[in-house]
Amino acid sequence: MMKWLLLSALALAAQHLGVLSYTVPQGSPGFYHGNSSAAVTFDAHSMFLDNKRLFVFSGEFHPWRAPSGKAIWRDVFEKMKAAGFNTASIYFHWGLSSAKEGGALDFNFFRSHTDLYEVAKEVGILIISRPGPYINAETTAGGFPGWLTNVPALARTNQTGFTNAWMPYIKAVAKFIEPFQYPNGPVIAVQSENEFFQSFPDNPGRAEYMQLIEDTYRANGITKIPITHNDAHPQGAYAGPGLGAVDLYCWDEYPNGFDCSHPTVWGQVDTQLNADHQKIDPDVMWSAAEFQGGSFDPWGGPGYDSCYQLLNEQFANVYYKNNYAAQVTLQSLYMTYGGTNWGNLAEPTVYTSYDYGAPIREDRTLSPKFNEIKLQSHFLHASTDFVLSTMTSADTSLSDKGQVFTTALSSPSGVGFYVVRQNDNAITTRTDFQLKMNTTAGVVTVPQFGGTNSLEGRESKIFVTNYPFGSNKLAYSTAEVMTWTTIDKTDIVVLYALAGHTIEASIPTTAQKVTVSGSTSVTAKVSNGSVVINGSPSGASVITFGSAKVVVFDKATALAWWNPRLAGTGKTPYDVAPDVPSVLVGGPYFVRSATQHGSVLALTGDLNATTTLDVIASSSVKSITWNGKTLSVSKSAFGSIRATLPFGVKAPTVPSLKDATWLCEDSLPEIKDGFDDSSWVTANKTSTPRPQQPTGGKFVLYADEYGFHYGNTIARGHFTGNATGVKLNVQGGFNFGYSVWLNNKFLGSNQGTNANAANGGLDQTNDTWTFNTADVRPGDNVVTVVVDTTGLNEDQGGDDFFKTPRGVRGYQLLGGPDFSVWKIQGNLGGENGPDNTRGPLNEGGLFFERQGAHLPGFPATNWASSKTDSTCSPTVGITTAGIKAYRTTFNLNFPANSDIPIALKFTRTPTSSYRTIIYINGWQFGRFSSKDGPQTLFPLPEGILNHQGENELLVTIWSLDAQGAKIADIGLVNTATIDSGKPPVGAVSSPGFAQLRR
Ligand code: GAL
Repeated sequence: MMKWLLLSALALAAQHLGVLSYTVPQGSPGFYHGNSSAAVTFDAHSMFLDNKRLFVFSGEFHPWRAPSGKAIWRDVFEKMKAAGFNTASIYFHWGLSSAKEGGALDFNFFRSHTDLYEVAKEVGILIISRPGPYINAETTAGGFPGWLTNVPALARTNQTGFTNAWMPYIKAVAKFIEPFQYPNGPVIAVQSENEFFQSFPDNPGRAEYMQLIEDTYRANGITKIPITHNDAHPQGAYAGPGLGAVDLYCWDEYPNGFDCSHPTVWGQVDTQLNADHQKIDPDVMWSAAEFQGGSFDPWGGPGYDSCYQLLNEQFANVYYKNNYAAQVTLQSLYMTYGGTNWGNLAEPTVYTSYDYGAPIREDRTLSPKFNEIKLQSHFLHASTDFVLSTMTSADTSLSDKGQVFTTALSSPSGVGFYVVRQNDNAITTRTDFQLKMNTTAGVVTVPQFGGTNSLEGRESKIFVTNYPFGSNKLAYSTAEVMTWTTIDKTDIVVLYALAGHTIEASIPTTAQKVTVSGSTSVTAKVSNGSVVINGSPSGASVITFGSAKVVVFDKATALAWWNPRLAGTGKTPYDVAPDVPSVLVGGPYFVRSATQHGSVLALTGDLNATTTLDVIASSSVKSITWNGKTLSVSKSAFGSIRATLPFGVKAPTVPSLKDATWLCEDSLPEIKDGFDDSSWVTANKTSTPRPQQPTGGKFVLYADEYGFHYGNTIARGHFTGNATGVKLNVQGGFNFGYSVWLNNKFLGSNQGTNANAANGGLDQTNDTWTFNTADVRPGDNVVTVVVDTTGLNEDQGGDDFFKTPRGVRGYQLLGGPDFSVWKIQGNLGGENGPDNTRGPLNEGGLFFERQGAHLPGFPATNWASSKTDSTCSPTVGITTAGIKAYRTTFNLNFPANSDIPIALKFTRTPTSSYRTIIYINGWQFGRFSSKDGPQTLFPLPEGILNHQGENELLVTIWSLDAQGAKIADIGLVNTATIDSGKPPVGAVSSPGFAQLRR
C-alpha cells in the first residue's frame, strides 16, 4: 500500500508541474488486474480517459423501459448530454432476453446492447453497463427470468444450478460489450451484480459467485475497463481485498427515502460521506453508482408529481452539492429518465409508470430539476481542478451565522471551493451572512463592497477563489460559476445567483477600463488592479475588460442557457472539458446540438413557446440556423446575437374516444357451462423444491411451476360430489387481485394492499368461499380462480424471495371429496410464447390475450359494436363481476417537427373495484386498478404509438364486484406540445395477429 501511495504522489506531483500525460502507477488500485492495457484508469481522485481527468457525471436510463428503441434513446441521450451528463448508467434485464431455460437468448430491439452503445457513441455519452445478472430496479424478479423460479438452486450463490443458469447470459453480454470498450466505444465500466453481500459461514457461496462473474467478463474480453460494484451501504462489500473484490468499489445513496406522501419532509444531509469513503477505500475515487434522482411510488401511493416534489430542484441543489463537498467524482443519478413498466415489467411495489419524479419525465419533457442539474454539471466539467480538491474544513466557523455550514475544499494548485448551505434542512427561510474565504491576497470576508451573501432555505451554493477560466482568474466569486469557455481569444465565464441576492466577484487585470452592457443591476469597477463586480443580478449583464468577459445572470435566466460543444471539435465525442470549443445559447426550452460550418452556426433543438434566442459565439459566425431554417439576427444590448424563434406547432387535435366506435366481447368464457379446458396444462406436481411450500391441497398450483410467469393466470379445479365450499390461499404480490366462481356463479373477490398499508401489506389472502347447495351440480363442477398478479418479487435478501409463488398457493375443498384435477392457464405458449419482438413478458393469460385480440389486425368480426349496441363501451361497462374487452382504432397525424406525447387518461372511481389492462398496437402499456390507483394517466410513447397513422387500442374491464363496473371517463390527452428538432421516430415495426396467431 505504502509503495503505491508514494508512486501515486509522484504521479500527482508530475501532474501539478503541468505534465499532461498521466500513468496510473503499477501496483496502485487504478492499475487493476495487473492490466497495463487498460483504457480506463483511476486513482484516489478521479477517473482518467485519454490521460485526462474527468468527473463522471452519470444518469441512470433503462432502454427496455423505453421500447420504442433507438430514436427515443437518442432523444433521451441528447437531452442528458445537453444537461451535462457525460455518462449514462444502464441496467440490462436478463429476463427480457431469456424466455426459457437453455433457450436462445434474445438481444434484439429494445434488448439490444449494440444499438444502445451505437447511439451513445453517436451522441457522445459514455456508458456504465450494468447487466446483473441481478439488478433489482423495481422490475419483476429483479431482472431474473421467470423460469429461474423453478431452478432448484439458491440464486446469487455459486450453486451449480444457478451458475449454469446465468453463465450463458453473462458470456453473451460480454461479447456485446467487448467491441464497445473505451476507446473503441463508449463503455467505461461494467458492474458485477447489484447491492450484493459477502459470504458468511452460514451463508456461503456468495463471494465465489461474484468472483465467477468477474472472471467470466475477463475471460470474454472485458480487459480494458474496470469492473465495479454497487454496494447498498458504505460497508465495503467487495471493496477488497479478497474473493470477489472489484476494481472500482461504488455504493448507492437514497437520502430522502421513498415516502412521496410527505413531499416536503426532508432528512438532514449526510456529513459522513467522505469519512465513510476514507474508511473503506481511500486509495480509490469515491463513486456513487446510484444517487437519488427521484423515487419510485407504490400502488396506492400519492403519484409521481409528489415524488418529484420530494426530490425536486431544491433537493438536487442541496444534496448533490453535498456530494461534491464530500469529493464524489463519479455520481450517477437514479433515475435520470425512468420510463414505463410496460408489459408486466413491474414488481409488486410499483405500478406501470416508472416516471420516478426524474429530471426527464416519463413523457420526455424536461423538469426544473433538469436545468438545475445542467448548471451543476457544467460547473464541474469546467472546473478541472475540482476533482483534485480535498477538504480543508467542514463546519460553521467560516460564517458569521451559526446556521451556515461551509465545506471548504482546495486543489493542489490553490483553487478554493466553498460549498455553503444552511446546516438544518428544516430551515426554509432565507439567511443573510458574511463568509471568510482564503484568497491569494489572504483571508477576506465577503462581500467586501456592500450587501450580504444569501441562502434561501434548502439552497446550497458554491463560491470559488483563485479560480482559473482560460488565462484569467476569479480571485473570488460569490456568484456561482455555470461554465466558462474561450471564444476568439476572450475568456468568457458565466456567473449566476438568484435575483435579489447580492453577488461579488473580483478578477485581477491589467486592464484600465471595464464596460458593463445589458442589465445595470450589477456594477463593475477597476480598483487596485482588479475588476470588482458587485450587485444583484437581473437578466443578463456582461462585463468586458482585457481578454475577459464575465456574464452575470439571475438564476432563472441562467437555467435557460446551454453550453453545447461544437460538434466534431473534441478529440473524442465524449470530451466535455472546457478546452473543447463551445458556444453559449440562451432561451430555448432545449438545445440539442451546435455545429459550425464556416460562417454558419447550425443549432438544433426544441421549443415550447415562441422564444428569444441569444447566442454568444465567435465573430466568425455570420448567420444562424435553427432546425435548418436561417434566422434573421440582430445584436442584443449585452452583445449576443439575437433572433426570434417562432413556435411552429399548432395545438393538436386529439381524437375523442367517447365518440369512437368500440367493439367489445366477453373475456371470461372460462366460467361458461361446457368450457373446454382439456388443452390446458394439468397441474400434476405434488411437490416443489422452492423454499415457499404449498399451504394445502394435493397438487402444487403455482403458475410458474407450469411455465406461466407473467400477467394474469387462471386455475380451474374440477370436482364431483356435494362440496359445501372451498378454502383458498391466493398469492399475487402486493395489490394483487383475484375473483372466484363456482361454475358460472360468482363467489367473490379479494385484493392485496400495498407495502405501506397499516397491516404491512397483503401479498396473499386466505378466504373461505361457501357454495349455495343449489349451485353444486351432479357431475362435473368447476371452481375457476382468475388471478391478477403484480409481478414476481425482487430478491434483495438473496433468499430466493423471487420464487414466492403466484396463483393458488393452497386449497381445500370443504364438505366433500377433493378436486379430481386442476388445470392451469397463462400467457399463450408459456415459456414458448410467439412474440419475439415484444418479448416474453408482454402478454398475460386472459382469454382475449390468448386469442390475440390485443394484436394489430385482429379480426374482431364476431364482436359486438357500439354502433348497434350502446352498452358496448368502457364508459358503460359491465353489470356483473367478470371481464370484458373493448377495442377501438384512432388515427393521428402529427407534423414531423413536433414532439407531442400522448397519454390515455382515466377517471378513477376508488369506490368501485375494477382492474383494466391497456394494450396499444399489441403492446401492453398499462395496468389500472380503480381501488388502488394512483395512476390515471398512461403515457403511450411515440414509436409504440403511430403518430402518423392508425392505432389499435384495447382496454379491459375486470369487475371484482358483483354489481359490475365502468370507467367513468376515458380519453386521449397530449401532455405537452413541443416544436422539436428530434429526428423522426417512426412506428416500431412489430408483428400483428396474422403473424402471431396463425
Ligand atoms: C437501489 C437499487 C436499484 C433500485 C433503487 C430504488 O437500492 O440498486 O436497483 O431498486 O434502489 O429505486
